[in-house]
Parts: sequence; structure tokens; C-alpha cells
Amino acid sequence: SAFLRIGYLFWGEFVISLFLFLTGHRLISQTAAKIDVDFDYDGPLMKTEVPGPRSRELMKQLNGIQNAEAVHFFCNYQESRGNYLVDVDGNRMLDLYSQISSIPIGYSHPSLIKLLQQPQNLSTFINRPALGILPPGNFAEKLKESLLLVAPKGLQQVITMSCGSCSNENAFKAIFMWYRFSDISSFVLIFVFLGLGCLATTHSKAIHKLDIPSFDWPIAPFPRLKYPLEEFVKENQQEEAHCLEEVEDLIVKYRKKKKIVAGIVIEPIQSEGGDNHASDDFFRKLRDITRKHGCAFLVDEVQTGGGCTGKFWAHEHWGLDDPADVVTFSKKMMTGGFFHKEEFRPDGPYRIFNTWLGDPAKNLMLAEVINVIKREDLLNNATNAGKALLAGLLDLQARYPHLISRARGRGTFCSFDTPNDTTRNKLIAIARNKGVVLGGCGDRSIRFRPTLIFKDHHAHLFLNIFSDILADFK
Ligand SMILES: *[C@@H]1O[C@H](CO)[C@@H](O)[C@H](O)[C@H]1NC(C)=O
Ligand SMILES: *[C@@H]1O[C@H](CO)[C@@H](O)[C@H](O)[C@H]1NC(C)=O
Ligand SMILES: *[C@@H]1O[C@H](CO)[C@@H](O)[C@H](O)[C@H]1NC(C)=O
Repeated sequence: SAFLRIGYLFWGEFVISLFLFLTGHRLISQTAAKIDVDFDYDGPLMKTEVPGPRSRELMKQLNGIQNAEAVHFFCNYQESRGNYLVDVDGNRMLDLYSQISSIPIGYSHPSLIKLLQQPQNLSTFINRPALGILPPGNFAEKLKESLLLVAPKGLQQVITMSCGSCSNENAFKAIFMWYRFSDISSFVLIFVFLGLGCLATTHSKAIHKLDIPSFDWPIAPFPRLKYPLEEFVKENQQEEAHCLEEVEDLIVKYRKKKKIVAGIVIEPIQSEGGDNHASDDFFRKLRDITRKHGCAFLVDEVQTGGGCTGKFWAHEHWGLDDPADVVTFSKKMMTGGFFHKEEFRPDGPYRIFNTWLGDPAKNLMLAEVINVIKREDLLNNATNAGKALLAGLLDLQARYPHLISRARGRGTFCSFDTPNDTTRNKLIAIARNKGVVLGGCGDRSIRFRPTLIFKDHHAHLFLNIFSDILADFK
């Protein structure tokens, strides 16, 4: 199995990639040796298999206290830096999953460390207020310096929350209140995508829903597109038209059952359900349906928000003047919450309420994250790095069509399908032992959720490793 690996250094920070096809087999993705993230490591470094002996010992310990069967391995966050996650056995892995998509600018970013070292900021980190009743004096100012700086078009009102699921749940409440119902149980929302975290609505692992009662809320199918898109234009248009019809049918059907559809909820890319994409035209038409029937349009950007698709909000790609009534966020935004139009303001105090309503310390960190994103042009970087990643995936797909299909993505928000769950999980496990952390979604997809400081360099590093894995896969 002859193959060459050539480091190709172009001056400056440029990373050049050429794909060489040698011996009809392996793909060699050439990369510059130079690293353009100064606090990053220069590559994976593996010492044991993962989970290693120390992780297994800790699993036993934790399992005595709680069910720890979901734990993959234990981490050493002090040693983790940039795009690299270090585990307790000293293995250093290129992290393309970044804590389920929630690390915006890499581990231990120097700008965030600096922020925490400012004595003026200490009090914000150690005194957590009940924001709904006793906010700090600079609360409004800090919201303006963080969330409002990146508010989606037309949405100047914001309420913070502590996590993604409570962001969605409270956004649903705001929509019902907007409808001013006396009896909420006779009103429903249609979910075209199902967001991470809300038990009644998520496509996230079926086991999340086991034994938990759920509402009778209608679910309309998200389009399942055929790839490559340019070869299936007509089929995909039909698929999208069919899904839109289903949405309208559901609205009518529920009305007959005396249940009013108050809103429609959708993710720009349906994440947990298998990274499903739809055309911008699909979203425009869905928006039209909400207007026609007077329902609210909630865009769930918990997973897609914060820049990984190349725009700060994925729904900006649709090019709509009035894209959303409510936008939920969390993960890369550090704090959870939702933006909404003026008319969705709760009509009294305590109507949208919990003890913390977010955390000012997270707003402070978000302000710094936004600074870094702007200063380092990270949205353009995500677009470029995503192109390199997707081009490499398409290439691997052409070479290993029995293992990889439907390679797709926007920015670094990429994914591909494997033949089945068993193969998918095996690929993820092998990659981990070779120093790459990947995540799964849907029933057989692998998804990429790197940080915003993931560059071409990291894409090629991954492609080299994964190409070897595919060549050896049995
Ligand atoms: C955090 O520290 C910086 C730098 O000293 C200061 O400008 C900023 O006002 C502080 N933020 C808060 C919320 O105190
Ligand atoms: C990222 O942005 C910086 C600053 O604009 C630029 O110098 C660099 O080439 C970009 N890298 C990629 C991979 O786009
Ligand atoms: C899964 O896919 C692999 C690769 O195509 C195949 O060898 C295997 O039999 C499949 N397993 C199941 C359970 O379908």
C-alpha cells in the first residue's frame, strides 16, 4: 500500500491542498505544516486506546453515584487547547464535535482567560443573580454589548435562559401568550424540525423520549433531499413541495379537531434528526404558509447559530426580509435565550420567568467571543474551512461510495451518511483511537461540529486520517 504524505509549505499562513491519487487507493490531502491558531496544538497525539485505563476507572467511580453509561471518556480541560481535546489518559484528539457543538472559539482561548483575570470582572463570575428581579446595574448595557450586537434582523427584543431546551420551551410559551389563549391545551405548534432538548419534540435519540409523556403536537416531515443536489433537482423540488403540503394539511386537520396551530418550529438544518438540509426556497415558502395562516414562525438556531454555517445565523442564508418571529439560541452563544419581535413581549411580569433567566457571566464571555469572531474574521474562515472539508468529503465519497454517501454541508456544519448504525459507530470508534473526535446524528449520519477556529489545516489533517481509516476499513 504505497502512499506518500507530503507536507507542502506555502509562504505565510496559507494552506494549500492538492489531492493526489496514488495507486488507485488512498487520498493524500496535502497541508501546510504551519498552524495559524497560536494556542493550538500541532496535531493529535495518542498514548492509549480511548477510553483508556484512567477513564475506565473513573467511569466505574462515577457509575457508583449515577448512571454514567453515556460517558465516552473523561477529559482534562486544563490541558485542552484550541481544536484539541485532551483526555485523562493523556490522549490529545482533534475535536470535531466540540462538546456537542457548543465551544465557539476553541478550548482555553487566551482572550477568555484574560477576561477572567480582570479583577473588575470577578464579581460577575462569583455572584449569580436572579436576573428577573435583581439584575446588576450594567445588565442592559451588557446585553447591548453582546446579544444585541448580533441580533437577527427585525428582532430587537431578547430574553436570556440557561440552556437550549428551556430557551425553546419558553419561546413556545411566548408564542402561546401572543395568541392569548385561555386554554393552552387546545392549541398546538407544528414541528417541522425537532429541536435538541425539548422532550416532546426532539428527534434526538429515541431513548430520550422513553417513559416521558409527550403532547399531541403535530410533526410535519422535514424534506429528505437526494444527493448530489444538481442531479436531483426535480425530485428534490417535489419532495419539498410535498412537505409543505403536509404542513398545510396538518393546520387544517387540527383545526377540525378544534386545535389551533399557533406556530411552526423549524431548524435551518435539522440537526439531531440526521443533518437534513432544505433549499432556501423551501424556507421562504414555509414562511409564506405561516403568514397565510397567522401562525408564528420560530426558527430554532440552538445548534446552527453563532457562525458555523458561515453567517452568524443560518437563516440569514435564506435572504428573507422577514425571516422569523422568534429565534432561539444556546450552545456556541454561551448563554441560552430567544430573540423575538416586539409583539411577542409577555404582557406582564413573571409570565416568562425562572430563578436565573440566564447568567451575566455568560453574556460577558459572549461579548468577548463576538470580539474574537470579528477581529479574526472567523465567519469567513468557517466558510473557507467548510469548503475544504466538504470538498474532501465529496472526494472520499467518490472513492468509497459503499461507506460514504450524501456528503453535505454549509460552512463547517457538514455531515455524511454511512450504510448503517453499526458501520457509523465503528467508524466513530476507530477515528477516536486515531485521534479524531466525531459525533453521530440521525440513524446513520456522522456530523461535523468543529469550533470557529477550525481552519483548512485541520480539515486536511482530518481528511488524511480518515482516508487511511476508510482504506483499511473491513
Ligand atoms: C471586565 O474587565 C474589563 C477590563 O478591565 C472592563 O473593561 C469591563 O468593564 C469588565 N466588565 C465588567 C462586567 O465588569
Ligand atoms: C481566516 O481569516 C484570516 C483573517 O482575515 C485570514 O488571514 C486567513 O487566511 C483566513 N483563513 C481561512 C482558512 O480562511
Ligand atoms: C452495515 O453495513 C456494512 C457495510 O456496508 C455491511 O457489511 C453490514 O452487513 C451492514 N450491517 C447491517 C446490520 O446491516
